[in-house]
Amino acid sequence: MSATVLIGAQWGDEGKGKIVDLLSPQFDVVARYQGGANAGHTVCFGGRTVVLHQIPSGIFHPHVRCVIGNGVVIDPVALLEEIRMLESLGVRTVGRLFISHMAHLIMPYHKLLDEVGEEARGAERVGTTGRGIGPAYVDKFARVGIRVVDLLDRQVLCRKLRANLEAKNELLRRLYSREPLDVEAIIEQYVAFDQMIDPYVTNTVELLNDALEQGQRLLLEGAQGALLDVDFGTYPFVTASHPTAGGACTGLGIPPTAIRGVIGVAKAYTTRVGNGPFPTELSGEEAEQLRLRGKEYGATTGRPRRTGWLDLVSLRHAVRINGIQELALTKLDVLDSLEEIPVCVAYRIGEKITTVFPTDVQTLERVEPVYEVLPGWKQSTAGVTDYGALPERARAYVAFVSDWLRVPVRWISTGPAREQTILCP
Ligand code: GDP
Ligand code: IMO
Ligand code: MG
Repeated sequence: MSATVLIGAQWGDEGKGKIVDLLSPQFDVVARYQGGANAGHTVCFGGRTVVLHQIPSGIFHPHVRCVIGNGVVIDPVALLEEIRMLESLGVRTVGRLFISHMAHLIMPYHKLLDEVGEEARGAERVGTTGRGIGPAYVDKFARVGIRVVDLLDRQVLCRKLRANLEAKNELLRRLYSREPLDVEAIIEQYVAFDQMIDPYVTNTVELLNDALEQGQRLLLEGAQGALLDVDFGTYPFVTASHPTAGGACTGLGIPPTAIRGVIGVAKAYTTRVGNGPFPTELSGEEAEQLRLRGKEYGATTGRPRRTGWLDLVSLRHAVRINGIQELALTKLDVLDSLEEIPVCVAYRIGEKITTVFPTDVQTLERVEPVYEVLPGWKQSTAGVTDYGALPERARAYVAFVSDWLRVPVRWISTGPAREQTILCP
């Protein structure tokens, strides 16, 4: 039995898609366990760049079976678009992509409620991706959600949709002064998904546990990142699921005892998209330079990402709550031209110096990062594939991170493409 969880160790967009694609040859199954189309996982190979939102990033390896687990909230409109996009690239999905019948569906009213909810929050808005993720999880836990399996029974679907729309339309009208949504149009649209989605719908709990029993290797692909976890992240500026390693078991129905490894993916610096505290955030020209060099624009929404230095205090938190045993450090090449590179090694809170990550935003808003400044290497590392070929100072930077966290850096990424990666000795 062996499953490995791969998670984002920061606020998302660490390069999980690239690393999952890179590691896929070593796995038989790649499974997503939470989130939905708020994710944007970029995979680059053979001169091609593809952004995946709901389909696991192992899909480009024909031997890999890909699973969308019960913990994911599925947007069928976006999913079918993604399937079509893959088929147009010659990637077969039928017989390779399996969707849990228990996964909840994103409905048009979830997206609308996401939008109006954000508007109503004003300055306090989370800065969501607008994909309806929060409202879909709300319905799941309120026990009024509509699941994939409901698509396959028209009567059930119609009944649940009508009940939901009645309530949501009331909410939209009374609380947000919005026009009600057309029940019949939505029924028609969603009823049409049954045939399209049918070939993919499976009891994925059985599939995954059978695979484990047969000794197959599973890679469990987290979306978002540890600091966006609804409990352990910077609440309320978080997503509505558990991207942390613990979420993999409940999001897939596999036992904790099956998990043998946890890989954390972190950028060599930090980015965040959306609102909320970000202690090492840069401003002005410095922030812009890092954004430009790292091409830091959201893969899902195109929003400019906020940029800042590497924050070892928050990474230590991520290491602890996920049990990260190995790190993939990405985008090292983005730091190539810097004279000096500050790394945050503690927070100052008033008189106190701490390495404990405060998860209440009031405290986090007022921490002052304590930096250790490392010398830059001022030499290109773009595309380097051999650890020995890295400039000495680049190696020292990586060693500093791994020594401080006491976690080995196993992979260093030096460019977006699959092969632009170093497997560390
Ligand atoms: P994910 O959500 O964690 O999969 O990450 P995203 O795909 O949203 O964002 C990562 C971005 O960085 C993508 O555009 C990748 O192509 C790119 N990328 C990944 N690794 C590297 C790297 O080592 N160097 C550079 N320059 N770009 C990278
Ligand atoms: P990947 O998987 C970065 C952020 C949003 C917002 C907060 C809540 O590509 O790393 P949501 O739409 O989930 O309700 O938004 O979470 N967010 C992400 N940030 N990468 C992501 O996914 C994200 N998914 C959500 O910007 O701050
Ligand atoms: Mg992303």
